Amino acid sequence: MTASPYVIAVVNQKGGVGKTTSAVNLGACLAASERPTLLIDMDPQANASSAYGIVNAERQVYDALIDELPLTSCAYETELETLHVVPAGRDLVGAEIELVAKEAREFQLDRAIKELGDAYEIVLIDCPPSLGLLTLNALSAADAVLIPLQCEYYALEGLANLTETVELVRQQLNPRLGIQGIVLTMADQRNNLARQVEAEVRSHFGDKVYRTRIPRNVRLSEAPSHGQPILLYDIHSKGAVAYQKLAEELLAQLAIKEAPRRPPTLPVAPEAASAEVVSAEPTPASPPSHQATPPPTVNSGT
Ligand SMILES: Nc1ncnc2c1ncn2[C@@H]1O[C@H](COP(=O)(O)OP(=O)(O)OP(=O)(O)O)[C@@H](O)[C@H]1O
Ligand SMILES: [Mg+2]
Repeated sequence: MTASPYVIAVVNQKGGVGKTTSAVNLGACLAASERPTLLIDMDPQANASSAYGIVNAERQVYDALIDELPLTSCAYETELETLHVVPAGRDLVGAEIELVAKEAREFQLDRAIKELGDAYEIVLIDCPPSLGLLTLNALSAADAVLIPLQCEYYALEGLANLTETVELVRQQLNPRLGIQGIVLTMADQRNNLARQVEAEVRSHFGDKVYRTRIPRNVRLSEAPSHGQPILLYDIHSKGAVAYQKLAEELLAQLAIKEAPRRPPTLPVAPEAASAEVVSAEPTPASPPSHQATPPPTVNSGT
């Protein structure tokens, strides 16, 4: 791998297709393979943040986009040592408007990620269900898009619009942007229409479509309310097994040669202390060894 992280935007303008579930659980599975991973929540709904038990965080991706704070000062540790999360919140709705007035408005996330240097190997970005400025920032910062696709009637139409957008962004904003892969979510092999849509997607996109399908699995929908990824909530569930397989496919594509390593130590962000972390055993951001300040205490929310 190069000195900068490999950046993947999890994107589909269609709502409720499994973007957040995929970003959250793929992030956990990549981190469990000891690849230092940063998950950035770019959706004002903040579902990826709450899936890790982070709600109403004092520092958010907004601060990196608009006030140009370093992303590491907006990042929170998780129960997985190799995974950090930059949360979102309602401020992001405003960010979309504030970005309009900013110079290089499509490149604010790209700038923030470039400042990370080699702190992480992989950055995953959970995008909102729209193609507005927040998603454009994600696409301008990404090496590739990962597209969760639910095999429904309108899926192909939506996919055509999305690949056109990716092409436009590649031509006008980010020449390195590619399609990492398409993952079929909430798959139901007993459903005829779903099988037909899958066959069509595979015939159009060939090996860009991951072999692993994510099945519909109730444990996947329960895990966020416990503030945990499926790997920690129920490692034996079908959903956990599927996301681990997907992570294996993705890692094989990336062909990372480096030995496993640890993520960076986060700088002390005192405001982080006021984030209401509701997961079972949250770990507060710990200070670098040269820092005299004590680590912030994180409200357990219980
Ligand atoms: N494989 C699955 N099995 C069962 N439920 C799932 C699965 N994937 C996602 N869900 C559920 O479907 C809903 C939508 O999923 P998710 O939030 O991941 O989609 P999204 O594309 O991020 O939505 P949005 O466009 O609103 O951001 C959630 O309630 C989630 O728990
Ligand atoms: Mg989402």
